Amino acid sequence: MSFPEGLFRTKSLDEMVAETEEPEHRLRKALGPGNLIALGIGAIIGAGIFATIGTATAGDVSRPGAGPALMLSFVLTAIVCGFTALCYAEFASMVPVAGSAYTYSYATLGELIAWIIGWDLILEYAIGNVAVAISWANYFNTLLEGMGIHLPRWLTIDYHTAHSKMPEVVAAAPHVFGVPIVLNILAFAIVAAITVVLVWGIRESASFNFWMVAIKLVVLGFFVFVSFHFVKPVNWTPFAPNGFSGIAAGAAIVFFAYIGFDAVSTTAEEARNPKRDMPIGIIGSLIICTVIYILIAAVFTGMIPYAALRQTLATEQAEPLTLAMKYVAMPNWMVGVVAFGSVVAHTAVLLVFQLGQPRIFFAMARDGLLPPVFARVHPRFRTPHVTTILTGVAVGVTAMFTTLDEMVNLTNIGTLFAFILICIGITILRFKDPHRERPFRVPFGPVLLPALGILSSLGLIYYLPPSSWWRFVAWLGVGAVVYLLYGYGHSRMRHPRTPPAPPTFNPAAIPPPEA
Ligand code: ALA
Repeated sequence: MSFPEGLFRTKSLDEMVAETEEPEHRLRKALGPGNLIALGIGAIIGAGIFATIGTATAGDVSRPGAGPALMLSFVLTAIVCGFTALCYAEFASMVPVAGSAYTYSYATLGELIAWIIGWDLILEYAIGNVAVAISWANYFNTLLEGMGIHLPRWLTIDYHTAHSKMPEVVAAAPHVFGVPIVLNILAFAIVAAITVVLVWGIRESASFNFWMVAIKLVVLGFFVFVSFHFVKPVNWTPFAPNGFSGIAAGAAIVFFAYIGFDAVSTTAEEARNPKRDMPIGIIGSLIICTVIYILIAAVFTGMIPYAALRQTLATEQAEPLTLAMKYVAMPNWMVGVVAFGSVVAHTAVLLVFQLGQPRIFFAMARDGLLPPVFARVHPRFRTPHVTTILTGVAVGVTAMFTTLDEMVNLTNIGTLFAFILICIGITILRFKDPHRERPFRVPFGPVLLPALGILSSLGLIYYLPPSSWWRFVAWLGVGAVVYLLYGYGHSRMRHPRTPPAPPTFNPAAIPPPEA
């Protein structure tokens, strides 16, 4: 088959579903609707609400702040995500196959686009997790310091930040052959621990997640409850000090807080009843988190006046909830409870994203676009252990050396691009395969809501820093090279395997023992 023949050939949905039943690729079906909603909440509530709302409210040198209208920023982003969540729900209930947006693109837009989206999703899951691991490490270090445990600074920060903002840390770090050793060891350690849990098993991972989700909901409820008395409605005026541009810039920042509802779809192959439960998991978790976020935004902006927030340092704004609690002079133990909840919330996000990324690699390898070793399933635990470990090492090592902001921006643009392709895919499939059973349908026809999803995602991309646009294009360029060097020549769809040999051992053929 000559280049570029077959690049836009799509894979049959029935073939995909049949492949999930191949014994060597079968995952354990253990997840019910409660687990799926919990996985969604586990993925959604994390660094976004605990670390980015200070900047979104106050703004920074390059972006106007939303002010108390942060509540509207959350509503705006929820609407953008809502369009896409409906599309994800339709896909995930119709094609219960691991791989999420990657798999859906293979069925609708062809191999090349599927590869691009699979490669792009690395930004959402793996790079997103790098950001969460870095933020986790910040909070955990604060918690340790609150308990009187002080790690050396050169073990808790990346080299770039230390070099530009704290040269004294670089100078004090040990040197090996003249090279200063400055790395974020806590970020690596948490990713390593999560990887062990994930290799252990999907059921164990889901119940571990369930407890962490319970803790973070209790802690956020605690925050709202104890802070409510300190809310002064006068702090909500002026409501939108920078008008729509402040609200939109805030929406682009807090978009990170919503990423994760789509991660539910990566576990579709492990759901007991995906037709019914996938839409419940995806849409249910998004709605629950939206309500929680708006409530927290209202309490947060009612506690601390916009003008006072603008006076605080960027580092303090990065821990906004505890900052607001300290502002109204709440007791230390209450602040400690919220800081602890933040660490737990981050951990849950890490768990779900580390769960999602290997399943996308797994689906790509099953299709021949990555080496077969990526599709191996552990004989005892029935988890994709090779990709889980590889992802753990890659994310952990990157988190030791990179900065939070760069990783957040890249994650946002990568995720919004995936959202756009999902919306396009839903419309195409409605026309291409109109009679396929759709247990859940995006309402109001095949065009209206997906088109709004595309336009609104483009709108948020517009509000991201231009540097992230160029990094994104470079990332896709690297992906194109990898595809040409490996995936193009090994694609299972374009180079089908020979059928398996007939079994040499057939228990049914053994005669029954004589009486
Ligand atoms: N939504 C996830 C978080 O806020 C990525 O941490």
